[in-house]
Amino acid sequence: MIKIDTKSIAFLFLFVTLFSCKDDEPLVVIPVEENYSDIYDLPSTPFNYSNVVFPETFNAFVLGLDNTPENNQITDAGATLGRVLFYDKQLSFNKTIACASCHVQEFGFSDPNQKSEGFEGGHTRRNSMNLVNSGFYQPGKYFWDHRAATLEDQVLMPLQDGIEMGMTLELLETRLSTLDYYKPLFKKAFNSEEVTSDRVSKALAQFVRAIYSFNSKYDTGIEATNNIFMDFPNYTAQENMGKDIFNGKLTPGANGTCVFCHMGNDNLRYDVAFDANSVNQVIFSGLRTDNIGLDENFRDVDNGVGEITGQDSDFGQFKTPSIRNIALTAPYMHDGRLETLEAVVEHYSTQVKPHPYLSDHMINGDETPRNLNLSEEEKAALVAFLKTLTDTEMMTDVKYSNPFVN
Ligand code: HEC
Ligand code: HEC
Repeated sequence: MIKIDTKSIAFLFLFVTLFSCKDDEPLVVIPVEENYSDIYDLPSTPFNYSNVVFPETFNAFVLGLDNTPENNQITDAGATLGRVLFYDKQLSFNKTIACASCHVQEFGFSDPNQKSEGFEGGHTRRNSMNLVNSGFYQPGKYFWDHRAATLEDQVLMPLQDGIEMGMTLELLETRLSTLDYYKPLFKKAFNSEEVTSDRVSKALAQFVRAIYSFNSKYDTGIEATNNIFMDFPNYTAQENMGKDIFNGKLTPGANGTCVFCHMGNDNLRYDVAFDANSVNQVIFSGLRTDNIGLDENFRDVDNGVGEITGQDSDFGQFKTPSIRNIALTAPYMHDGRLETLEAVVEHYSTQVKPHPYLSDHMINGDETPRNLNLSEEEKAALVAFLKTLTDTEMMTDVKYSNPFVN
């Protein structure tokens, strides 16, 4: 008996149309191929994830920072499987939550809610993180407290988290094995239909690693000048002023300005020759953890890295997250306490609190917390600069979007 369902009708129709023209030949019985077009909408030739051409200035960093392991190179079929997994609610215990529930493309793959809602309505302890260009963090630099070593390790953690998705790896494997629409995807990605948690981890890591962003106004400006200290021709005067504040050019000697932590070079100076390799414009993070003086009380709710290492000196330290697409990823900070970019800038301007382990980039010579005391004009300029880091192409690129039809 030939089982015909809606998935196969389109295929059969095409087949019958082709062959019915030759009416002298008998109708050949062909195996019914499942394309699952009623489940997901995937292109017949997969999207290009594996061979993306980066702009020059971006490319300069990619080789040194790319953390792709030897045994998990991105393939188009692997990242396609990863995309389906990323959007599939079957990956949570009660089938209500997907990775994408808390990492939303239009919000730079973060969550507009201060705390994200997990599979049983519980809330995460911290604000969701953006995932853009996350294939360029050094090993050991994932999560707000740097507790995950690699992207391959990291992606299995939310799945097994009691608040986020509530799965076990055994349940993950048995559940996905019963879903026929995964068979062709695993086959194409791993040359075998067998579902293993190792393959799920690899495919998810491939997809997350392939979420690139390099089409912001900033990228156009740096392509034109190749120097973060020159005025960008495509910027307004206000945006260039904001860039100067970010770089410390307007606050000479202030090694507390943004660039040190958010582009990652302690030796960067506007008055010495520019070294394109010394600023990390791929992720806009110096890959450090720091205590930026959000709280005075250092044994309060969340002690970040200190909870992992047990060292007092790490208390209150959190990952410097990428600020690419920062205008899309509100609210801000590890606990999402600040709702706007204006509030973030106000923090650095007047709200830095004393703390026994405040980062040395946040302390003045006399040991007081370094508040930049920016004027209204400077604050507005800094916000305008931060908004130039938005990449609207990444936000709407179909290859990162939800492939499910319903
Ligand atoms: C219920 C919400 C929720 C779900 C579901 C979820 N995440 Fe997250 N994700 C978060 C939060 C919150 C953090 C920050 C947690 C922390 O640092 O303690 C995070 C952090 C991350 C990070 C670290 C980013 C960085 O820069 O260090 C990655 C990568 C990530 N998630 C990927 C995934 C993947 C892949 C899935 C699906 C398997 C997933 N997440 C599911 C909320 C969620
Ligand atoms: C000492 C290092 C350091 C300096 C200097 C610094 N930052 Fe940060 N920044 C961090 C860290 C660490 C966090 C995360 C803190 C947390 O959540 O506890 C952060 C968070 C942010 C965020 C929110 C990111 C998010 O996804 O929630 C923005 C925006 C930001 N910084 C912009 C700036 C600007 C603008 C400046 C200059 C005025 C600056 N930073 C200076 C280390 C630094």
